[in-house]
Formats: sequence, C-alpha cells, structure tokens
Amino acid sequence: MNTTTIFPENFLWGGAVAANQCEGAWLEDGKLPNVTDALIGILSKNPSVKWDEEKQIWEIALDEDKDYLSHIAVDFYHRFEEDLKLMSEMGLKAFRTSISWSRIFPRGDEDTPNEAGLLFYDRMIDTMLKYGMEPVITLSHYETPLALVGEYGGWTNRKLIGFFDKYARTIFERYQGKVKYWMTFNEINNAFRMPYAAAGVISFPPSDPKEPLKDIDDKAIYQACHHLFVANALATKALREIDEDAMMGIMCSFSAIATYAWDSDPENVFGALEFRRNSWFFSDVMCRGHYPGYVKRIWSENGTEPEIKVGDLELLQENTSDYIAFSYYRSAVYDKSAEMKVDTGGAKGFDNPFLKEKSPEPWSWPIDPKGLRYVMNELTDRYELPLFIVENGIGLDETPDENGRINDVERCRYLKMHLEEMAEAVKDGCELLGYLWWGPFDIVSAGTGEMKKRYGFIYVDRHNDGSGDLHRQKKDSFNYYKQVIETNGADLEIKI
Ligand code: BG6
Repeated sequence: MNTTTIFPENFLWGGAVAANQCEGAWLEDGKLPNVTDALIGILSKNPSVKWDEEKQIWEIALDEDKDYLSHIAVDFYHRFEEDLKLMSEMGLKAFRTSISWSRIFPRGDEDTPNEAGLLFYDRMIDTMLKYGMEPVITLSHYETPLALVGEYGGWTNRKLIGFFDKYARTIFERYQGKVKYWMTFNEINNAFRMPYAAAGVISFPPSDPKEPLKDIDDKAIYQACHHLFVANALATKALREIDEDAMMGIMCSFSAIATYAWDSDPENVFGALEFRRNSWFFSDVMCRGHYPGYVKRIWSENGTEPEIKVGDLELLQENTSDYIAFSYYRSAVYDKSAEMKVDTGGAKGFDNPFLKEKSPEPWSWPIDPKGLRYVMNELTDRYELPLFIVENGIGLDETPDENGRINDVERCRYLKMHLEEMAEAVKDGCELLGYLWWGPFDIVSAGTGEMKKRYGFIYVDRHNDGSGDLHRQKKDSFNYYKQVIETNGADLEIKI
C-alpha cells in the first residue's frame, strides 16, 4: 500500500511513556509515593491497607517481601538526556510522558509546590524542545498522590477537585508557551475496572476500622468519576485562561471500543453495545458535555446516582475537550454467556476465530489492526473531533542473541499493519494529529509490573529479578521506525 501524501507535513510521529513506569527515583528530591508506587502491576487492583490507630487514617502498606521494579524503573529520572537524544536520532517529532503529580505536590494537599520537582520537568521539557520534539503531557498517568487515598478516600472525596486544580494551574503556568498538547487523566475509563489506579479508590473504609474493608461499590465509583469529570472540566478551563494556543484532550483506553458481538444474536449485539457504553460513558461526558441517558437509567435503577453540586453540570457543558487521545492495543469479543465475559484488559478474553495472530504468551493479546481503523471511524462518527493515537504497541519477551543483536521483526510487522489501517482511517476522513508508539524504550509494564514485557525500539538492560546495568541498546526496529518517520509514513517496507 502506498501511503504517500496521506499524512500532513506536521504529523506528530512519536513515542509515549509514563513517569511512574520509567523515571524511578520514587522518593528523590522531595517526591512522595503515588498510587502506582504502592502496587506491583495495576491489574492486581488493591494494595495492602492497614488502619493507623495513632493517625486515625488508612495507610497503604508496601509489602517488604516484594520487589517494586518501578521504584528504580529504567532510571529515566537520571538518564532522560541520553534517552531523549536517542529518540531524536530516531526522528521523533513528539514525545509523551506524564508529570508525576507527587513530585510537584508530594502529598497532594500542600499550598505550595515542590520547586525541585518542577526543576526536573523544566530540564526535561527543555531537552525535548532542544531536540525539536513536541512535548505531549499527561497530568496524571495513574499517579494520584498516595496521601490523598488513605486520608481523603481518593477521588470519592470532592476535595481532590481543588487539589488537582491547583496542581494543573501550577503546571500550565510553568509550561505556558512550551507545551501545546495536554491530557488530564490517563485511561480515565478504567475507573470501574481498576478503581485504585484510575481513581485512587480503595475498598471502602468501614465506620469501625476494626472491621474488614468493605468492597468498593458502583455508587462510590460513579461519585469518583463525577469528581474526575469536574476536575477535567476545571483543568480545561484553566488551560484556556492560561495558554490559549494549547489544546486539552481526554485520554481513554479505546481497545474496549473494538469489542465485537460474537454473533448476530441480538442479545449479543446489544450486550456488546452496553459493554462499549462502559467506555463511551467517559468520552460522552467529556466530549459532549453532559451525562448520557443510558447512564441516568443505570443510576435510577441501581441507586448509584452520584451527588452533583449546583454549577457542576454547567462546568461540564462549557469545558469539553479539544481532541481525543486514546490507546489501542487489541480487540475483544462479547458473548452473553457468563464464562465468555470480555476482559479487554487481560489475556482472558474469548478468542476471535477470525484473528490469526496474538502477542506471545503469557500476555496473548489478539492482534487486530483493522480494529484501530474501526475505533477511529467510530470516534469520528460520534464526536467529529481531532484524534491522537497516544499509545499503540506490542509487548515481547526479548534477549539479545550471541552477537548482541535484537531482531524484533515481529514488532515491525505489528507497527506496519497498524500504520496501514491508520492510513485507511485517515482516508476515511478521520482527522489525526499524530501517532505515538507506546514505550519506545523498554519500561516497566503497567499491568503486571514486570520488565520482561518489552515494547521498546531500544532495549534496556533490566530484568524481572532487578538485575541489569540499565544500558540502552538499539533493536532492529529502531531503524524501521526511523525510516517510517523519515518518509512521513510513505515507506513502510520492512528491510530487516
Ligand atoms: C495502557 C497504559 O493501558 O497500556 C500504559 O496507559 C501501559 O501505562 C500500556 O503500560 C500497556 O500495558 P502493559 O500492562 O503491557 O504495560
């Protein structure tokens, strides 16, 4: 397929990471822990929690027997100059990362920011600009400060809106004129699947702390979501006041939108639609500016309606998003029978017999490039907003061969297939700002907290047991992505 002239000159080819998966330095220069620092892999959902009698709060307890790889991660905190130089050698035009909220407001509720944290991001953003890379910044990539969880109950507490507003304004003022593309909360639509990571919500503290924690209920999560939506609206408002040239995007995991009905049984077709609405709910509120009817029905039938204060709905209506950022990795199949429940986030899903390839075990994510075109078209039909693919990639378990080479033709094939379908979607009329590969250098996996699941064009010598000297090494895919960018997506032929 010839993709010449499909992508505009200023198309943002790039890569994406998250602070908590690459920086390490988890307690350096004043930083305190955030939610992911206290968890090995966000799929494990809840950290350990214990009641602190003296402080009268719930404390998140780190498990001393476990090795939290993310605490050192790949030491991006000290090596970002070297890494960004490598990114620029590949030709990247944009680089996405998150600012770690607890580097700036270590507990989350302070009055003044931590200057040392800001200085670190000053240097990092200036380095991106020096190399001609557009910084694309997420304000919280599963990074709510931990103190806001134990002491305040995470995003179930309305006070977090004010804390986030202060944080967002501090950051926008500092990087005004330097950063054009912003996102508030990474994969906000994972709030139900992973309440702790996405919404800082742990199992509910009971009234008597000696009782075991109560399960999180849907009402609490809808309440947290409402607060996240208001915080998103306020951040959008703040950005427009502070930097009118910048753009605010929502960020959702939209692999879930490529959830197909298993067959033409109307029950499955409607079931798949309902499943997809679990994600549409988030983009509908943040892009259309109001709560959709299907959610109001759920609230009234289940008694899960959140408390909405006067003025909130106006804020949502007046501050909708400028663009839609999303991640896409794979598709899934919905069937109504209980044992075939879809889990778009794990390897559990029901196998789609029409898809022949999967990523390697134990992850086994189905490879479905057409699903990307499908999602892009669905989003365009629904919202008519610019799109930004801010995550796409494949995790492989790799070791250098006896000559030190890493031949990752599988990664190049995955990339090529997805770029071809992305180009089709652009021809279909989807407006696309850019494409960011997830994890251009190896980082710690978010889902499982391991190093073994590698996404990079650059290998990082660190392993599941914590060993490795952290040196960086180009894989074969490095030159492939370079070629793609150099030709603005026109030459996708794999020449390895
Ligand atoms: C996305 C997250 O869901 O998927 C990233 O935003 C994450 O943080 C990526 O790393 C890939 O998932 P995993 O579990 O393979 O790291």
